[in-house]
Amino acid sequence: MNILILGSGGRESAFAWKVAQSPKCEKLFIAPGNAGTKQYGTNVNIKVTDFEGIKALVLSEGINLVLVGPEEPLVKGVHDFFLADEQLKNIPVVGPQQEGAQLEGSKDFSKQFMEKHNIPTAAYKTFTKDTLQDGLTYLATAGLPVVLKADGLAAGKGVLICLTLEEAQTELTAMLADAKFGEASSRVVVEQFLTGIELSVFVMTDGNSYKILPEAKDYKRIGEGDTGLNTGGMGSISPVPFADVAYMKKVEERVIIPTVEGLKKDGIPYKGFIFIGLMNSNGEPWVIEYNCRMGDPETESVMRRIDSDFVDLLLGVAEGNLNEKEIIISPKTAATVVMVAGGYPGEYLKNKVITGTENVRDSIVFHAGTSMDGDDIITTGGRVLAITTVQDDMFSALQQATADASRIYYDGMYFRKDIGFDLL
Ligand SMILES: Nc1ncnc2c1ncn2[C@@H]1O[C@H](COP(=O)(O)OP(=O)(O)OP(=O)(O)O)[C@@H](O)[C@H]1O
Ligand SMILES: [Mg+2]
Repeated sequence: MNILILGSGGRESAFAWKVAQSPKCEKLFIAPGNAGTKQYGTNVNIKVTDFEGIKALVLSEGINLVLVGPEEPLVKGVHDFFLADEQLKNIPVVGPQQEGAQLEGSKDFSKQFMEKHNIPTAAYKTFTKDTLQDGLTYLATAGLPVVLKADGLAAGKGVLICLTLEEAQTELTAMLADAKFGEASSRVVVEQFLTGIELSVFVMTDGNSYKILPEAKDYKRIGEGDTGLNTGGMGSISPVPFADVAYMKKVEERVIIPTVEGLKKDGIPYKGFIFIGLMNSNGEPWVIEYNCRMGDPETESVMRRIDSDFVDLLLGVAEGNLNEKEIIISPKTAATVVMVAGGYPGEYLKNKVITGTENVRDSIVFHAGTSMDGDDIITTGGRVLAITTVQDDMFSALQQATADASRIYYDGMYFRKDIGFDLL
């Protein structure tokens, strides 16, 4: 088969690495890809939202399957575009149609969905510009801290945790009346604050049956000890010790099954990944959010723990026979350390030459924000590389990933040396 992966980050590098190993994969294309994905296939410089460009590529290269990495093309309807096109409609896309992608594209939609299907989640109310006064009154009765979420996609910046009533009321007004996050905050979900430890659970579904992929924990803050500004993700670890068999059974029964069944009951077709962001509060799972795609940098760790043929699983999703497929998961521990550009997540350095990747001993260097400049590999994004290792135990994995990251150099290079150490 000829396979096309859409995206250009560490997640897509890990997908490409895994897909390229499959005996079922003949030619692999990545659009647009990065300096690292060239090792696994052919990069094609087309944007993930350029649907006409994607169509031309799919037809000229005889693509048989499209795997969508990021949420943006899904929320914008890339899968629907394929289904509506005479020449593309029989080419399977892994990633939900627009309606299913609303699980991520609209916080209000996902809260209503959870409420309707009795999936445990924080209590909430949704407000618009017209109901701002009600919102301000509601805040006065809600406990603190309180969480405000822009309804639409806001590049990971649309969630505010407010510690005082004054702050919450100011922010709600800014979001609704002054369009702080543009159209994304024309609706705002106000929800109860949950305490506990977060966990990312990943499900693959063909719309009928599902497979649970390895779970992971990610690290969002820039600083060690989980301090400082939020980032796209500084590292990940899989498995997560507290997500044992008993815990995952609760997750499956209370969250995964009602989610897949709920989509079916609501008549929402869904072929792709469901990323369930959970809060573990005293051993009980609560859903914080859904995403309609895999996580980054979780995918890097997750792909390294799947020992079976990933393309066969993708085919199961595409063809609707996922229940006949087998997933083999390694009992080993995968750890990922993300190397970022100096200054990130603020204004950051760019075009710095990366050296030393050949000195890495027992990790895979997944590229994220990189490009080629002649023969040099240079940094172009905030998150530059994801260093992923697999070892027999967690301690060795954490040590190895960190040691290998320190073998790589570029001006302004930074990574956290404490990824996963809170779980030991
Ligand atoms: N109800 C809550 N209680 C406590 N913390 C919360 C709550 N909701 C969100 N958070 C925190 O805010 C973060 C972002 O929230 P959420 O995942 O809903 O937003 P997002 O912008 O969709 O994130 P992502 O970019 O990861 O998809 C969560 O990972 C969690 O740390
Ligand atoms: Mg999200």
